[in-house]
Amino acid sequence: MARTRWTIGNWKQNLLRGAAEELATAVVSDLPEPVAEGGKQVRVGIAPSFVALDVLRPWVRPQGPLFLFAQNVAAQEEGAFTGEVGPDMLRDAGVHGAIVGHSERRTLFGETDTTVARKVKLALEADLRVVLCVGEGLEVRESGNHESFVISQLSAALSQLPHELMNERLILAYEPVWAIGTGKTATPRDAAAMHRSLRAWMEKHFGSAGADRSILYGGSVKPNNAAALMAVGDVDGFLVGGASLEAEAFLQIVRLVVSAA
Ligand code: PGA
Repeated sequence: MARTRWTIGNWKQNLLRGAAEELATAVVSDLPEPVAEGGKQVRVGIAPSFVALDVLRPWVRPQGPLFLFAQNVAAQEEGAFTGEVGPDMLRDAGVHGAIVGHSERRTLFGETDTTVARKVKLALEADLRVVLCVGEGLEVRESGNHESFVISQLSAALSQLPHELMNERLILAYEPVWAIGTGKTATPRDAAAMHRSLRAWMEKHFGSAGADRSILYGGSVKPNNAAALMAVGDVDGFLVGGASLEAEAFLQIVRLVVSAA
């Protein structure tokens, strides 16, 4: 089974609603054919701030070609949790999924592996898609323990997941922390090695349902490095931060993902 290729723009804490609307309009107006036509093999998602989710509705499925992601989701279903937005609330707002375990959430807001695991399970149970992020910091990379570190993050994040919830709604993203927003990217060889390890672990623990999951790369992806990263097997697209804030740069990355063999 061919794996779905994704390009997902993580807008982070940027863009007021009007600017979000403009950027989405510009992206949608120039999407390559298979995405514009709603093909299953190549998909494009956008993760704006919570307050801009609603204004993007006209461009998202089923009306438009885009999938809509939140940048975070609560680790509990509902209740007295001031400031949190639960999985059912997202689904009710027409959102297709959520990014979970982004390194900025882990390092700046103290999210632990346990919190990430709860979020993954609750969001998938609520029929949302989940973009689960894993990735090592610079110290870990330099110590040479990056593979075991990232595999342990993955294993912890999926530790509460019943096997029946392992399906195409789960998307993985390998994002080396030292590459996020820094202009440094993993070499295609390093990315390929990590993606292979992640896929092997997924297969070992979840069989083909695990092995068939899309694994995206993230961390300073730009139009000038996306093609080389796509060329190494096992990279199924990108989670894009900075470059997703510019329509043309994001579209160029989308085109490269679409045209990769
Ligand atoms: P970046 O961000 O592309 O700006 O490095 C990637 C991410 O944080 O998902």
